[in-house]
Amino acid sequence: MASQRTSIRYGLTKFALRKINSIMGLLEGKRGIISGPLDEQSIAWKVAQKCHEQGAKITLTNAPVAMRFGEIQKLAEEINAEIIPADATSLDDIAKLYSQSQDILGGKMDFVLHSIGMSVNVRKNRAYTDLKYDWMQKTFDVSAISFHKFMQVAYQQDVMADWGSMLALSYIAAQRVFPDYSEMAESKALLESFARSFGYHFGKKNNVRVNTISQSPTMTTAGQGVKGFQEFFDYADTMSPLGNATADECADYCIFLFSDMSKKITMQNLYHDGGFSNMGINPEVVMPSE
Ligand SMILES: NC(=O)c1ccc[n+]([C@@H]2O[C@H](COP(=O)([O-])OP(=O)(O)OC[C@H]3O[C@@H](n4cnc5c(N)ncnc54)[C@H](O)[C@@H]3O)[C@@H](O)[C@H]2O)c1
Repeated sequence: MASQRTSIRYGLTKFALRKINSIMGLLEGKRGIISGPLDEQSIAWKVAQKCHEQGAKITLTNAPVAMRFGEIQKLAEEINAEIIPADATSLDDIAKLYSQSQDILGGKMDFVLHSIGMSVNVRKNRAYTDLKYDWMQKTFDVSAISFHKFMQVAYQQDVMADWGSMLALSYIAAQRVFPDYSEMAESKALLESFARSFGYHFGKKNNVRVNTISQSPTMTTAGQGVKGFQEFFDYADTMSPLGNATADECADYCIFLFSDMSKKITMQNLYHDGGFSNMGINPEVVMPSE
């Protein structure tokens, strides 16, 4: 009887171990590039940590200026990854990012995360009805065209492994009006459109998938740059039946989209927002309880 109990216990342990192993190691043997980790709040920071936990080998990248202001060095030491500075608007920098990443990691990339956003007009507090167009072009270049550049350079230089995954982060202001999000709304609409259009070409080339995640408001440097962000955040949190998705949860979703579990998902904008995007009215927003 005692030995039966032990074997049942042993059996359960083996089952539990198998379960843990199947959850861990989702990215074992994969190589990737994570852009945009600035500090511990950054979505890309959490993604990089989880890629490491799941067995991937990665390089980190950010704008050269972020090397001075951010804390990326701390992350690099923690997960034993190299940093390759690159301005996401520069084709030369992107080409170097890819060639160095392949040298360091020893082969083609299985995944690339674009986690980059910045609006000049928002930073300078320009009203949406009084935008400066040279600033707007800079915003589009940094926040959206850079994703096309990431894909075009990778496509032309054959950087992506078969069945690889390219992913960028978006926001629902691409579809709905959030006045204080300003020109970032159009940046995100462009970003999502690039994912759809390039997804076709990359899929035909070597089965590489391209998607965007439309993430809840998240307390990060880029997020908090938007006027009235706290109200924005609280409204979405109350409106969504599951509450806002956190940066950590967004990172889990990115891991899934980098993994072989999502091989046939491509050309999609995927809402990761606790249900916000399908809500019409929530009584808790209209008539808050005392
Ligand atoms: N925070 C939110 O509420 C939220 C919601 C939905 C989507 N997103 C998107 O998530 C992504 C990541 O933002 P985050 O919230 O983690 O904030 P973050 O400020 O931590 O990250 C933005 C990153 O963009 C980098 N960057 C800016 N200009 C660059 C350039 N020229 N070249 C290379 N890198 C450059 C910054 O250095 C920074 O690391 C962005 O695309 C953002 O729009 C954020």
